[in-house]
Amino acid sequence: MKYLINSPDISSLEKKYVLNALNSGWLSINGKNTKEFEKKISKFLRIKYCMAVQSGTAAIHLALKSLGCSVGHKVIVPNYTCVSNISAVAQCGATPIIVEVERQTLGINLEDLKKAIKKFKPKILQLVHVYGCPAKNTKEIVKLCKKHNIKMIEDFSESLGGEFDNKKLGNFGDIGICSIRSEKMIGVGEGGVIFTKNKKLFNKIRKLGSRNSPFRGSRDPYWKKYFSSGEGYNYLLPHLLGSLARAQIERFQKKLLPKKIMIGKLYKKYFNDENISITQNPIKSSKPVYWLNSIYFKKLNKTKVRKIASFLEKKGIEVRSGFWPLNNLSGFRSKYVGSKKVSMDIFDKSLVLPSNINLTEADIKKFRSLINKFL
Ligand SMILES: Cc1ncc(COP(=O)(O)O)c(C=O)c1O
Repeated sequence: MKYLINSPDISSLEKKYVLNALNSGWLSINGKNTKEFEKKISKFLRIKYCMAVQSGTAAIHLALKSLGCSVGHKVIVPNYTCVSNISAVAQCGATPIIVEVERQTLGINLEDLKKAIKKFKPKILQLVHVYGCPAKNTKEIVKLCKKHNIKMIEDFSESLGGEFDNKKLGNFGDIGICSIRSEKMIGVGEGGVIFTKNKKLFNKIRKLGSRNSPFRGSRDPYWKKYFSSGEGYNYLLPHLLGSLARAQIERFQKKLLPKKIMIGKLYKKYFNDENISITQNPIKSSKPVYWLNSIYFKKLNKTKVRKIASFLEKKGIEVRSGFWPLNNLSGFRSKYVGSKKVSMDIFDKSLVLPSNINLTEADIKKFRSLINKFL
């Protein structure tokens, strides 16, 4: 493919830090560059505690476990998101309660959520900001969670750097999680980060994520090093990937993020008329980061949209479908609450187009004129 959905942007800084990790002789967890990365991303987001882990999926699982999620518990997940959100719930033996999303930003629908809370009394809720667009009902969802004593995991894997009411995403839940796999806002191949402001909770996360053993920096005597309090996970990020992550976060604000925003604005310019719109419409008090640019065909059915997709792929333009609505995945034992089938409509009538930072205005204009042949 000539035009990719997203691709890693590797500069001499990434190469320098990887080389310095190789030369340091330390490739495993808690490497110097990984610690620097953790410090920098924490400072950027203004969330005091964080730990780099091996994937976004691992971060969700660890978040759920550290909040005590287990068999018999119910966890709310939005219908339009990555399968990892539901999969991690299943991994804990808990029951996923899938709630439909609203049409404007593809965040959780508030009315459906109220019904789900009343009916299922969930212990935990996962709030997801989709494709770089902060969820419209963030403030109300935080309030509802407080009122009903529900713990919140805020998943901003697709929206690093985004803001809601002048606060960076990641600050709204008891725990924040962010994937940093290759195609995300910053990417290291496979990786994730888990955040919290609560020291006690962080200590639990850190211990559980490192085999439930005494964590790094511990001043315990040497003979306690291999002690473990029980079930735990080997989830920490190795040093080579932590080195890539350090370079990516150092380049994020000045280089990577402004380019993403510029491309998002160009898509808005060329895909906004009676036939096609940008799928999401961020609310005024939020700042989106345009991780992926999804377009919505207002007048076409799914057969026609699929024809356009294969035509674009033949021209070397990578396209992606929307997320499979989770309530359509038969492999999970879940419950669903939804008054309007928004996720299915988006899945059928939208396409994700190349969103990588090397695109030019001419490229985006070209995508539009190729699509025009079908309208
Ligand atoms: C919203 C969201 N959460 C979690 C994940 C899972 O992260 P990872 O692929 O790093 O396991 C993804 C996708 O990668 C995602 O888009």
